[in-house]
Amino acid sequence: MEATELPRIVQLEHNLYAATFSLMKLLPARFMIDRAESNGAIDRETTVIETSSGTFALGLAMVCRLRGHRLRIVGDPAIDQHLRRRLRRLGAQVDIVEAASAEGGYQRARLDRVAELRERYPNHFVPGQYDNRDNPTAYGRAAELVSDMLGRVDCLVGPVGSGGSTGGMASFLRLAEPDMRLIGVDTHGSVIFGMPDRPRLVRGLGNSLLPANVQHTAYDEVHWVNAGETFHATRRLLAEKCLFMGPTSGAAYLVAKSWAAEHPDAKVVVMLPDEGNRYQENVYSDEWLRDNGINLAVPAEPVPVNHPRDVGTTWSRMAWQRRELHEVLHGELVP
Ligand SMILES: Cc1ncc(COP(=O)(O)O)c(C=O)c1O
Repeated sequence: MEATELPRIVQLEHNLYAATFSLMKLLPARFMIDRAESNGAIDRETTVIETSSGTFALGLAMVCRLRGHRLRIVGDPAIDQHLRRRLRRLGAQVDIVEAASAEGGYQRARLDRVAELRERYPNHFVPGQYDNRDNPTAYGRAAELVSDMLGRVDCLVGPVGSGGSTGGMASFLRLAEPDMRLIGVDTHGSVIFGMPDRPRLVRGLGNSLLPANVQHTAYDEVHWVNAGETFHATRRLLAEKCLFMGPTSGAAYLVAKSWAAEHPDAKVVVMLPDEGNRYQENVYSDEWLRDNGINLAVPAEPVPVNHPRDVGTTWSRMAWQRRELHEVLHGELVP
């Protein structure tokens, strides 16, 4: 388990390296279950309950299978048939919420279902990837591997969903290099960095509710990448570097490649969280893109903005300057 949860380090450009995960969420899933077992939060009768529509569910299902824990996953229609089948084969019980809440979307509806299940199963454990601090802490091993292999890192780029991976990696890498730059990659219509909530086509990054694990003051820069740009970059990552990855990897690659080209003397690491198999029928399917009216055009560079309200519909970039969300939304830009 520990061998598969750690990333491979792949050099993409003279100054750009990828931390390539088969399934990044295996790392926090295993770490959270380990911690719960060792502090007595889980026993043989415990039901593990979690909400996730993707890779965290899969990571937990693998860990719970190997450790013999009962698991209930609350997801939404974004859990495709293949993933549902795979989760069930791993022994998880999968509950799908069919309707989104008026406020907070599917994310809210899923959390409400989790609350019901907690009542129903008094002996439960909810890992809670959005607010459990063991999520970012889980990335200590991955950060150690990156610094053992690459030495000093000047800039880390990664997609942001719960905030665990980018926040966790940065906090460990900054023990050696406090000035290391952290660039978070989000998508249009996600509330994480202050945009109003809207339906989104990119899965795995972005959020309709603000997770407590997003530490806004960790980020130096934030980018918003739309669905067409994300899917185009994901395909480019395959065509240019033979890395068959999911869309959050594509979004991070787009940003990291551009930043690394602008800063040829800096050493840049990009997080690539999962493999492409799950996305064959959407991101990698021309028919699906056509049916969903997705245009794969990508601007040569991001539009600089000073406030999340100025983010248009295409790739945008903002100097976040390690500020709290409320400072960014209501304060002045630091000169
Ligand atoms: C495929 C994928 N990429 C990226 C992320 C974002 O990572 P984090 O939740 O650590 O911010 C997630 C989160 O679920 C994910 O599933």
